[in-house]
Amino acid sequence: MIFVTDDGSHSLHVSELNEHYHSTHGAIQESQHIYIQNGLNYLQKQTLNILEIGFGTGLNVLLTALHAGTKTIHYTTLEPYPLHHDIWSKLNYPDILNASDCFTQIHTCPWEMATPIQPNFYLKKHQISLQNYQNTDPADLIYFDAFGPAATPDLWTQDQFQKLYDSLNPGGILITFSAKGTVRQALSNVGFTVTKLPGPPGKTHITRAKK
Ligand SMILES: C[S@@+](CC[C@H](N)C(=O)[O-])C[C@H]1O[C@@H](n2cnc3c(N)ncnc32)[C@H](O)[C@@H]1O
Repeated sequence: MIFVTDDGSHSLHVSELNEHYHSTHGAIQESQHIYIQNGLNYLQKQTLNILEIGFGTGLNVLLTALHAGTKTIHYTTLEPYPLHHDIWSKLNYPDILNASDCFTQIHTCPWEMATPIQPNFYLKKHQISLQNYQNTDPADLIYFDAFGPAATPDLWTQDQFQKLYDSLNPGGILITFSAKGTVRQALSNVGFTVTKLPGPPGKTHITRAKK
């Protein structure tokens, strides 16, 4: 079900899990703070591979494409349950961000193959769960944006984090909205250097984990 968050941007509520796709305090505001400011903008690389866990509405993809600047980005995203056209086409991100063509391309480009969305931005969507995915291209930046650890504990395990750690280039980072103690401990156990950062409005902390 689509609802309006506090910054005016849409998000989705999944009643079976009682989970939101984004913060109720502002979906765009949250994605911008966590994944763009503290992820994309933190890495000083000109060419980078991004791996996202949880494509969802495509908001993180859209914001990353809009903030790519002169960077060349190869963006891989995992999603076992893609949204139907009837839902994604009603989301107000393209209106707010003035990016209709880009948002439509992000959703309509084929799955399982890299597609140029703009000259310096290549998107590969995989319809697969993290548990079944084996990364082949080393990543520089991981957006860990699955549902929360209470709703999907199988995704926040040491085994999954080990797999992600192994798939990162040295100096690469994983950024996520959760700063739960057990999550930070599991990240630290597999070798990450874990930092708690200030969160967006409504959230005290987020986590950045560096290889
Ligand atoms: C918090 S929402 C993602 C928000 C998304 N990044 C966005 O910008 O809209 C979590 C997403 O993870 C997906 N997901 C659920 N189980 C998953 C799994 N096992 N592996 C990867 N993604 C999963 C959900 O279907 C959902 O789209």
